[in-house]
Amino acid sequence: MSASMEVMIDAALDLYRDTFPGERLNIADLGCSSGPNAVLAISQIVDAVDEKRHQLGHDHIEFQCFLNDLPWNDFNAVFKALPEFCEKVEEEKGRDHSMCFIVGVPGSFYGRLFPKRSLHLIISLVSEGVHLNRGNLWISKTSPPCVFNSYLEQFQKDFSVFLMSRSEEIVIGGRMVLTLMGRKSKSPSDEAFGCTWELMARILMDMASEGLIEAEKIDSFNFPFYTPSLDELVELIKREGTFTINRLEFLQMGSRDYDIDHGRKGHDWVKVTRAALEPMLESHFGRDIMDDFFIRIEESFNESISPRRNAEVNPVLVSLVRKG
Ligand SMILES: C[S@@+](CC[C@H](N)C(=O)[O-])C[C@H]1O[C@@H](n2cnc3c(N)ncnc32)[C@H](O)[C@@H]1O
Repeated sequence: MSASMEVMIDAALDLYRDTFPGERLNIADLGCSSGPNAVLAISQIVDAVDEKRHQLGHDHIEFQCFLNDLPWNDFNAVFKALPEFCEKVEEEKGRDHSMCFIVGVPGSFYGRLFPKRSLHLIISLVSEGVHLNRGNLWISKTSPPCVFNSYLEQFQKDFSVFLMSRSEEIVIGGRMVLTLMGRKSKSPSDEAFGCTWELMARILMDMASEGLIEAEKIDSFNFPFYTPSLDELVELIKREGTFTINRLEFLQMGSRDYDIDHGRKGHDWVKVTRAALEPMLESHFGRDIMDDFFIRIEESFNESISPRRNAEVNPVLVSLVRKG
């Protein structure tokens, strides 16, 4: 989020400049999640635009901020945190701050969420992707080509629906800034992330051979995640046709040195991975094997994979403008 903040703020300031005088800016964060990050991006954008308005001596505007996530997201937690958040804004900025109205929008962004031409700025900082991959959990070096193609086709379908929906919802000249996980190499299995899934598949196969899980369960699990290349993204954006690409680049993020401070190789990395992936693995393989599974991952991880390499990720930043 911090790596893409500058681009999001630039897009918002350009928009303010282009749409002024206007009374209201409607901003949507798609996949806001819950917890402190849910309002963080939106609040920094609102602050930056309001600061600019103040510097230019313009009248107040109103911000309407839509926080979207899937219906089972903990919106209650988000809403409960809002009064404290608003108090803090008032304390820091005083009453001269423009008003900001926050709305929750439960639903999938793979479809329409808002009325036509109702949004000025859309941001989305999400890493989502996809749904015969015998003995594998994701695209791996041993997967047949049809696996890669199925992932790619699903991504093309999902991302096109996403673009078409946003294209209807955003005003002409509106901006959209997205970050999503991408890949630099030819095949997703060459990336650091691929090694993680190969290690997990190997551990699960061991557990299947010990009779702890059924081998068929491994074949039927496909991690719903795809990392597109920049070329694949350009092609889909051009094919959809209603957005101009303002920026498209890999974000520079230092790899996280999970283990340096703690001296416990792999331990922190396994904690992060477990937090992100356990719900998905648990619902497929069952809760009973989870502790055993992650203990084995940590043990094998120490021998087989460098934590630094596993901390490498390739987020892509896409900044788009809605054509007239
Ligand atoms: C990695 S979190 C990102 C949270 C936050 N934007 C941030 O940057 O910290 C991804 C969020 O996207 C949401 N999400 C995934 N698929 C979605 C969809 N189809 N529609 C709406 N939200 C979705 C998830 O529920 C999750 O809260």
